[in-house]
Amino acid sequence: MMDWDQLLLPYKQAVDELKVKLKGLRGQYEKCGLTPPIEFVTGRVKPITSIMDKARRKNIDFMTIEQELQDLAAIRIMVPFVDDILRVVQLLKDRNDFEIVEEQDYILHSKKSGYRSYHMVILYPVQTVNGEKKVFAEIQIRTLAMNFWATIEHSLNYKHKGKFPNEMKERLQKVAEAVYCLDEEMSKIRKEICEAQIVFSNKITDE
Ligand code: GTP
Ligand code: MG
Repeated sequence: MMDWDQLLLPYKQAVDELKVKLKGLRGQYEKCGLTPPIEFVTGRVKPITSIMDKARRKNIDFMTIEQELQDLAAIRIMVPFVDDILRVVQLLKDRNDFEIVEEQDYILHSKKSGYRSYHMVILYPVQTVNGEKKVFAEIQIRTLAMNFWATIEHSLNYKHKGKFPNEMKERLQKVAEAVYCLDEEMSKIRKEICEAQIVFSNKITDE
């Protein structure tokens, strides 16, 4: 009989700690009067029923769940603009409190469904009463617009058990393209506003 609480405890600890650390980053930017590249952060430990479903689907033995399922702990970082994604990726690479073991760039190469996000798998050290335990955690980084698409698509998928008619799949892919355009346009607007502000402040100092 699997003691789920015991198994998942370090993963809960990892999620809680990572949320505090990453939310703290946002505060640091604000304190310095800088615009944070992070909008908000969420995290979860995979529900037991989902763990069992995934293990069954992927033919994974319960003994190897911790090595095979690298998303038992997962963190999602939502950013305002597309360029903030690589900024956050770099911020994470510069840290020394965990090791990045895998990266998947679904921004450059979106999934067939239309899904876009930057994924990372990290090894995070948790201090337990039995010493340090390194656990895998998945970090997904995406814009607010990408998150909107992924959340809705996920809930529709869940409701319809992943069996969309082809026509629906195509429409969701089209919406993903619209989301891409929205993100691009927002980035352009931000860039132009920033440039205008620089010109404006230069003018003031010239006067
Ligand atoms: P698993 O990790 O086994 O799920 O498969 P994988 O390794 O091929 O997938 P990946 O690690 O790339 O993505 C896993 C997670 O990304 C999922 O749990 C979702 O949160 C998210 N994801 C991936 N593809 C989609 C998609 O098409 N739609 C939505 N809404 N989310 C997705
Ligand atoms: Mg995966």
